Amino acid sequence: MVFFHKNWRQRRSVLYMPSTNRRVLEKAPHLDCDGVVFDLEDSIADEARAGAHQNLRELVKDTDFGGKERIIRLPQLGSASFAEDLAVSLSCKPDALLLPKVGNASDIEAFQQMLEEAPADLQIWAMIETPQALINLKEIAACGNNTRLNCLVIGPNDLAKETGAKMEPGREVMLPWLMQILAAARAYNLSILDGVYNNFRDLEGLDAECQQGASMGYDGKTLIHPAQIEAANLRFGPSETDIKQAETIIAAFDDPANAGHAVLQIEGEMFEFLHLGMARQLISSLKD
Ligand code: COA
Ligand code: MG
Repeated sequence: MVFFHKNWRQRRSVLYMPSTNRRVLEKAPHLDCDGVVFDLEDSIADEARAGAHQNLRELVKDTDFGGKERIIRLPQLGSASFAEDLAVSLSCKPDALLLPKVGNASDIEAFQQMLEEAPADLQIWAMIETPQALINLKEIAACGNNTRLNCLVIGPNDLAKETGAKMEPGREVMLPWLMQILAAARAYNLSILDGVYNNFRDLEGLDAECQQGASMGYDGKTLIHPAQIEAANLRFGPSETDIKQAETIIAAFDDPANAGHAVLQIEGEMFEFLHLGMARQLISSLKD
């Protein structure tokens, strides 16, 4: 069941692409993902940075992405090219800027200050991918109250690199962190996106991880390859069973025979007004 938090918008599938690769940038507007992240961090070599800037100006700046969110991932705060990367990124008028390797609230606050002149609706997204972020989670997420911070994004490769925890099928060792990050996001009405699945030829493994992320309550998954979009859209969207159940709940509460009842049983299961609210949200999201 999709979780409709206050800050909800459809973010089932968000695809990274290296800003150096013109061919993928040209394809981006036609893909069926909900968002695209143009990367200026780990997927590009420093000597290719000027080319990446040129690509962003030519292929992203004034391009219609058909309603997809456009996000640019910057390098870490304090890196040599940061100011120039930020200036180029702002000129492309993205929906959000994704800040990697956030360690504490002061990173978000410092970044917020740099965006004083930026349009009011420009969002900050933050990668949670360092041990520092894990121990400072609450203060980072609390920036959702008074900054542009809108979304947390899991970075599993860096988390594994910085902690020694392994990225394994089932993600048993990382689950405690993943759920803590989810709780922090929910406490401050932030969106939250699951991390990438590196083996992009293994669609079965990806599907299992998408199902897991959806049942943990994540809004969607970050992706590295177009072949991964379909599974993410399927697993993070409402299933046919969810839709059918929502319709049944609404019909049951609307039935005059049930007027005045705050709790009903449908086929042996209990449903309360809170389920009715969730059912209505789900049905209305299909009309958007
Ligand atoms: N976005 C859009 N299109 C992509 C893409 C992406 N992330 N990754 C691959 N494609 C395209 C390719 O351009 C290719 O298109 P073409 O047939 O028209 O040339 C098609 O999908 C098939 O690609 P494939 O040959 O299977 O993969 P590849 O070897 O070209 O690329 C990667 C593999 C991993 C290098 C590539 O998917 C990639 O760069 N992913 C994103 C990496 C990234 O941004 N990492 C940082 C965040 S973790
Ligand atoms: Mg990373």
